[in-house]
Amino acid sequence: MLYLGNNYPIGIFDSGVGGLTVVRSLLDQLPGEHFIYFGDTAHVPYGSKEQHQLFAYARDIIAFLISKKVKAIVVACGTHSAVTVPHLKNDYPIPILGVLKAGARSVVRTTHNGKIGVVATSATVKSQAYTSEILQLNKDLQVFEQACPRFVPLVESGQIDSDDSLQAIKEYIQPLLDRQIDSLVLGCTHYPFLAPQIKNYVGEGVALVDPSCETIEELKAILAAQDMFNQETGNPTREFYVSGQDDSFYNVGRLLIGDIIDQVQKINLD
Ligand code: DGL
Repeated sequence: MLYLGNNYPIGIFDSGVGGLTVVRSLLDQLPGEHFIYFGDTAHVPYGSKEQHQLFAYARDIIAFLISKKVKAIVVACGTHSAVTVPHLKNDYPIPILGVLKAGARSVVRTTHNGKIGVVATSATVKSQAYTSEILQLNKDLQVFEQACPRFVPLVESGQIDSDDSLQAIKEYIQPLLDRQIDSLVLGCTHYPFLAPQIKNYVGEGVALVDPSCETIEELKAILAAQDMFNQETGNPTREFYVSGQDDSFYNVGRLLIGDIIDQVQKINLD
């Protein structure tokens, strides 16, 4: 594996603000690392896209991030982690990791009754990647997947606490509660922004699993194994790029993770 240098940034991408849930964990667990975030807002939502479109977007974004000399890429998107990452990750000379394996590992550790719910985008649910990953870890578990196409537009527009989000939560989550799940994977990176509202609905009996924390643990292990942590002592740089609307990403992004988003640059990869 070719590494470019300790002090080079981590690349992160998603369709929009969802990957900021992974940024939150990165800031928490690896605060000294530089990073470059790409929000593909020209193509959000990913969850309704065809596989060939997702492959094209992933290749363009990875090429862009590699041109910025990133030392590793975190694909902060459940949909890409399910559909493209398993096929693409060995095509590049740097580590590329998704969030799905981390989410599966976390929930397998969390469940007590063996009944797991997964909420994710339509494309992720269609792939059944969560079910197969979880069953590879423990074939005796039961997995129930639920697509939640209304969540991403609600998060992208900053409508976290609206009547529409509460209604959508009820509609999508109740069928999983009816299956007596005790753990629920938030299998799209946008969804942890709705976690307080979802928790309110499911109650104490259901544990919510946000894959981002375990994903950054995995990244840490990769960097540690190669002695690749940033050694510089100054303030790390954080750059944000989008392919579509930059003002909406700036406003909603700051609402969700605060003023770490200082500036957003618009760039056309097509
Ligand atoms: N946040 C991404 C995911 O985890 C993409 C969601 C979307 O754009 O539909 O799946």
